[in-house]
Amino acid sequence: MNYVLNTTDDYHVNALQTLGWELTVCNALEPEKSPCRGALRNSGTFGVQLFHFLQRFVPFSGIRSVLEVGGGLGYLMRDFLSLAPHLAASMLDISPYLLQKQKETLVNHSVRYGRADFLTMSISDLKPFDLVILNENLGDFPTLVAQSDAKRDADLQTRRWVDKINDIQEEFSLEFEEGESVNIGALCVVERLCGAQIPYIYLSEHSCEAAMQNPHFPLHHFQGPGKPEKIPLKGHAEFTVKFSHLVTIARAFRYKVVRGQYTDILPLALNDRVQAAMRAGAPLSDEQEILQQFIYDLYKYEYLVLISDSLKKG
Ligand SMILES: C[S@@+](CC[C@H](N)C(=O)[O-])C[C@H]1O[C@@H](n2cnc3c(N)ncnc32)[C@H](O)[C@@H]1O
Repeated sequence: MNYVLNTTDDYHVNALQTLGWELTVCNALEPEKSPCRGALRNSGTFGVQLFHFLQRFVPFSGIRSVLEVGGGLGYLMRDFLSLAPHLAASMLDISPYLLQKQKETLVNHSVRYGRADFLTMSISDLKPFDLVILNENLGDFPTLVAQSDAKRDADLQTRRWVDKINDIQEEFSLEFEEGESVNIGALCVVERLCGAQIPYIYLSEHSCEAAMQNPHFPLHHFQGPGKPEKIPLKGHAEFTVKFSHLVTIARAFRYKVVRGQYTDILPLALNDRVQAAMRAGAPLSDEQEILQQFIYDLYKYEYLVLISDSLKKG
């Protein structure tokens, strides 16, 4: 198969000046009066709800150092630190603009900051962390996009990533269908985190394998195609992520895997507004359009909680 490399580094380093148009679920739930909050059983911000969800798996009182990679505007970490002030937090981001925003959001907390591409971080620098978080950003990492008419004499960077597919395929017995694009960056993220034996890892992103089959919303059922798909965005493109491949790698490192959709973290309220929005095929108002998109995202996003079976730090 021939591939073209999709990356977002240049965009994040040189062009990104706002996250506003790329509305993450975390940011959608930030305003107190966000209509999205009204679609949920619990009304807190994303970080608060995620923290309470993770408490089922992560003994927060017993852990100390937490690293968030690609923390956007810093809201998730702000919420974690308000609920667990004993945590020693570090933020790593490739974007100078967003790192500055994180410093502003977290101004009242003592936090360490680093600007780098996560994939350049060494295993020894990762090892001290008890918990690593990557929320809604695995799709930003390099993807090898299958294209039968791609040039055979690809540039050096593309060839390096293609060689990495061969290594990963051999090491973890992953299978790629003919014509399937490969989330090579996301696979390397999981390989690194598990290789560093981080006790607890939380990851989330748009999945290409997620489905919505809620009997209350028959007009909105969907089934992901099972292969990474392009999401064109302003100034760059991301790819949906094949979570089953991430799971295979984590299991090879003997991690316990908890996998699910955002509806586990952010349970839906089947109230009148949600039912009215989802009964409609096409939305009948701006609010219905927002709710349909938000609820679609709750199903489209998958998460993984990976728990090291060695738990070396006890
Ligand atoms: C879509 S935003 C998600 C922001 C936030 N986690 C949220 O959920 O709102 C992607 C984030 O990942 C960062 N990012 C993208 N590629 C990265 C890389 N290779 N290394 C570190 N951070 C990266 C971006 O700068 C940004 O902060």
